[in-house]
Formats: sequence, structure tokens, C-alpha cells
Amino acid sequence: MLLEVEELTAGYGDIRVIEDVSFSLGSGELLAVLGPNGSGKSTLVKAVMGLATVHSGRILFRGEDVTRLKPHEKARRGMVYVPQMNNVFERLTVRENLIMAGYTIGDELQDRIEEVLELLPPLRRLMGRKAWTLSGGERQMLALAMALVRSPELLILDEPTASLAPPVAEKIIGLIAQIRESEDVGIILVEQNAKLALSISDEALLMVSGKQVYMGDANKLLSRSDLSSLYLGVRS
Ligand SMILES: Nc1ncnc2c1ncn2[C@@H]1O[C@H](COP(=O)(O)OP(=O)(O)O)[C@@H](O)[C@H]1O
Ligand SMILES: [Mg+2]
Repeated sequence: MLLEVEELTAGYGDIRVIEDVSFSLGSGELLAVLGPNGSGKSTLVKAVMGLATVHSGRILFRGEDVTRLKPHEKARRGMVYVPQMNNVFERLTVRENLIMAGYTIGDELQDRIEEVLELLPPLRRLMGRKAWTLSGGERQMLALAMALVRSPELLILDEPTASLAPPVAEKIIGLIAQIRESEDVGIILVEQNAKLALSISDEALLMVSGKQVYMGDANKLLSRSDLSSLYLGVRS
């Protein structure tokens, strides 16, 4: 198993935000993390990355206990996290952003950037543009590319379609589905747009008020009318 999260209780300092969350993810699988605003989705993925306080529970990555590792130690093992905000360097060009993201790679960086551009072709013509001049969708594409340059084994995306117009959001979700097909990677996709996320996910985890109220097959969640008010049509 790529990632196993066992009875995770986490928050910030003494504050507990999420309680008793458990799930596992295999390589090549895509898990959607859904739930209303403030339900603890970001806290969950931050705790997995070592960016929130873990009060109890365990996180195993490829069978190794990584619960207490620092974010950079997790990153070195192939866990890559794209935060919801501030995920690109505004003042740098697209090319410079990709070079910064891959600074640990060394000689193979140019080849890897080329591979990533094959996956995200619209970025190619933007290579010389400063990131602050990009549209919302282009910026999310760049953030995705910066994560992919590092050849992640686990890719965690926190609301990559937040504040994008629906057709652009669909395009980004389509690219994520394509990445899942072509790269050997497990993906955790945090989304407010449940319909879009469920359309490409195998499994879904529904968070409400810090608690896990559903974990299982993505299609089965769609048929749970008792839960739909908690995840359907919720958009920030
Ligand atoms: N840095 C923080 N310190 C204290 N509380 C926080 C912090 N970040 C988020 N919270 C609280 O944790 C709860 C869950 O937030 P979050 O995980 O961001 O939810 P979601 O991503 O589902 O919108 C909220 O009540 C929020 O106020
Ligand atoms: Mg969030």
C-alpha cells in the first residue's frame, strides 16, 4: 500500500480539528476528499504532510511509519503537496518556477521538465511569462507542473479548481485524470466540487465537522441520498 492513515487525530498545537480519520491509498489510485468548508479537509492533508500537529494515530508511507517526519523528509520520499493558495512564485517566470521546483533533481531536470510539458502542453507557450500574469487556470496548471517535476509517488492536491470558472475547472480535472493514467502515482484530490471530483476518483472520503462520515467507493457515495446534502452542490 502506498499510504495508510490510521485513526488520525490532528490539528494545530493543542487544538483538535480532525478526529479518528482512517483511509488507505494504492499507487495509481485517486481518492477524493470532500466536505463543506471548514470540515477539516486541508487539516487532514496538512497532517499527512507534517504541516499540522498530529495528536494520535499513524501515517505509513510504503509501509514506513512517517507520522513524525518533517515535511521536507516526506517530500524527499516522494510525497508532494500542492497547497490551496500561494503555490507558485509570482515574480518568477513559468520556466523559473519549474527550475525552482526541481532544484534537487540535478542533471535530469531539463528532461523531466520536457516530460511534464508533454503532460501539460498548454504551459509550453507560457514558459517565459511571469507567474503573476497567468490566469487562474494557467496558474493551477503551473502548480501541478511544479509538483510533477519532482516525480511524486503521492500527489496531494488541495482544491486545485477553487475559484476557477466551470469550464476551466473541468479542464484541470481532466488533466489530473490524465496524470493519473500516465504517471505511476497515487493522488489525493481535495475538492469542493464533489461532482467533478467523483467523476475521476476511485474512492471518496467525506469529512464533516472534522469527522469522517464516509470512506469508500466513489460511485456508492453518489447513491447515498442521506449524505448528498453534505457534499453535492457545495461550492465555495
Ligand atoms: N492554522 C490554524 N490554526 C487553528 N485553527 C485552524 C487553522 N487552520 C484551520 N483551522 C481551523 O480548522 C478547521 C478546519 O479547517 P480546514 O482544515 O481548513 O477546513 P477545509 O479545508 O475543509 O475548509 C476550521 O475550523 C479552521 O478554522
Ligand atoms: Mg481547505
